[in-house]
Amino acid sequence: MRKLSRNDPCWCGSGKKYKHCHLKQDLTLLHERRGRGQQRPREVIIKTEEQIAGIRESSRLTHKILDMLEERIVPGITTEQINTWVHEATLAAGAIPAPLNYRGYPKSVCTSLNEVVCHGIPGERVLVSGDILNVDVTSILDGYYGDSSRMFLIGEVSEEAQKLVKVTRECLYRGIKQVRPGNTLGDIGHAIQQHAEGQGYSVVRAFVGHGVGVYFHEPPDVRHYGRPHNGPVLQPNMVFTIEPMINLGGPQVKILEDEWTAVTTDGSLSAQWEHTLLVTAAGVEILTDA
Ligand code: MF3
Ligand code: CO
Ligand code: CO
Repeated sequence: MRKLSRNDPCWCGSGKKYKHCHLKQDLTLLHERRGRGQQRPREVIIKTEEQIAGIRESSRLTHKILDMLEERIVPGITTEQINTWVHEATLAAGAIPAPLNYRGYPKSVCTSLNEVVCHGIPGERVLVSGDILNVDVTSILDGYYGDSSRMFLIGEVSEEAQKLVKVTRECLYRGIKQVRPGNTLGDIGHAIQQHAEGQGYSVVRAFVGHGVGVYFHEPPDVRHYGRPHNGPVLQPNMVFTIEPMINLGGPQVKILEDEWTAVTTDGSLSAQWEHTLLVTAAGVEILTDA
């Protein structure tokens, strides 16, 4: 049977186009159904060439969506507006925003401002000059997941905040430099921890990177701290994220009443950058940078 396309009349008989009627609800239900059936797998999934091709495409889309936001995120807009842009762009590409309804998460993207470490929920907060914002996008295309986040500087940002954002990005790339067959997850964590703590910052322990691709969150946990030569050994065709969360103050976090928003306990600024990586024979391919 042919799949109803976005511009067909909706199946419900309203006379409206499918995209303006039940499309969103159908996608949401599909995602929920999958979510219930699928648990977090127990073992690392070494990806097949077919799976890699699919994850490459979903990761490209995630990258494109983040690029689209670059010029739109300015002082005066709300984080809800960012959610709408991400949601619409994802559906327009025939994909599903992975956060929506994931374990009850209410929106299509995470927007984490200033002292928010991760999982900030978009809402009516207006962005103002001086804010630093992480936007974390995960797309599901053809059943495959691509996960990436970036920091956005809003208007004029203090030197202190700019440096935190820059060093956190360097932490991500120092971690990525350790990705090659034969190295370990401990090598990645160590490189990140050394750089962050060397600048007087702290590494959040409560959240980690993760295997990704066939499910949203797969083994292994990817810690952003560790010791060289420790932990699981990297193998070709593993796919995982590195997504260090680095704080200006202490590493402790607490979760707000909404049960999602994680903030620094001391109220200090936090930054995060994330890519989805493929381990190749030669080293690494940054899937969310293509
Ligand atoms: N994208 C986040 C990650 O990097 C996960 C967000 S889960 C959500 O793993 F439900 F908050 F969206
Ligand atoms: Co992730
Ligand atoms: Co993410």
